[in-house]
Amino acid sequence: IRHLVSIKDLEDQEFVTLIERAEYFKKIFKSDESAEFQKNHLKLLGKTIALIFTKRSTRTRISTEGAATFFGAHPMFLGKDDIQLGVNESFYDTTKVVSSMVSCIFARVNSHNDILQLCEHSKVPIINSLCDMYHPLQAICDMLTIKEHLDYSTNKLKVAWIGDANNVINDMAIACLKLGMDVSIATPAGIELDSGIAQVGKEIAARKNLNFILTHDSVEAAKGAHVLVTDTFVSMGEEYAKAAKLKQFEGFQIDEQLAKHADPNYKFMHCLPRHNEEVSDDIFYGKHSIVFDEAENRLYAAMAAIDVFVNNKGNFDDLK
Ligand code: CP
Ligand code: NVA
Repeated sequence: IRHLVSIKDLEDQEFVTLIERAEYFKKIFKSDESAEFQKNHLKLLGKTIALIFTKRSTRTRISTEGAATFFGAHPMFLGKDDIQLGVNESFYDTTKVVSSMVSCIFARVNSHNDILQLCEHSKVPIINSLCDMYHPLQAICDMLTIKEHLDYSTNKLKVAWIGDANNVINDMAIACLKLGMDVSIATPAGIELDSGIAQVGKEIAARKNLNFILTHDSVEAAKGAHVLVTDTFVSMGEEYAKAAKLKQFEGFQIDEQLAKHADPNYKFMHCLPRHNEEVSDDIFYGKHSIVFDEAENRLYAAMAAIDVFVNNKGNFDDLK
């Protein structure tokens, strides 16, 4: 079985296919041709898709439930207070039982190791729906959003991340590089991008002749950028360190002053949920912001993931 764990596990062409699939489903979903829709897309009628979520979610939950419904499957949201996991039952036993009854599991768990455990013991595809290391569904969505607004296939783009070295940028950096974009990442001193991700990023950048810059200088990162992007400074599970982290990130907010260094036609992105610390209201709600288009595209990313990994059993060559 093939699972979706992180973008770095995908061949470049496989990743491109996922984005094209998302684009395709967006077109179908938004068109009125419901007969076509019925005929071709109810491939999972009578099946179920499990969402094992031990953390909160708005976008990932809604997009996954919507995408499951699109294909005719019934989504089952299994939050941390709904099932025995963690209180009465082990991760291993839960995986065995859930995967024996569903056609796929979307899993939002804390540690990357839990995702690997799920992949090892599940009978059905696991779609990583955010762990401490990766957020591949967000990266598929974000690349579709950049494609729509700035068209990376014909324009040479620079993407600047100003923020934490977290799960979202780990996948986004690799995604952008795979598609031929330059990437600059500015984190505060003392916070470094995961060394494994940095290594993979450097390899792709060398292979494709791209700039991949890791810096502690937000102005340097923002300079000439076509995309400014950030995320919360305090990820779920890090609440205990909130005060210290916010102090560490002082001066890292994306605001009008920083945005002056970007390309005049830059776009602002954020996976959401958003807090004021990482981006000012002017930018977040301003004319360069594409955050709500980005959020909507999560639906089509989830459809693409189900289509490729469930409907087509992870076979990218023979998409029907
Ligand atoms: N961007 C994202 O994953 O949002 P949720 O945490 O609300 O799912
Ligand atoms: N980095 C954030 C992303 C939420 C979608 C977190 O892990 O909480």
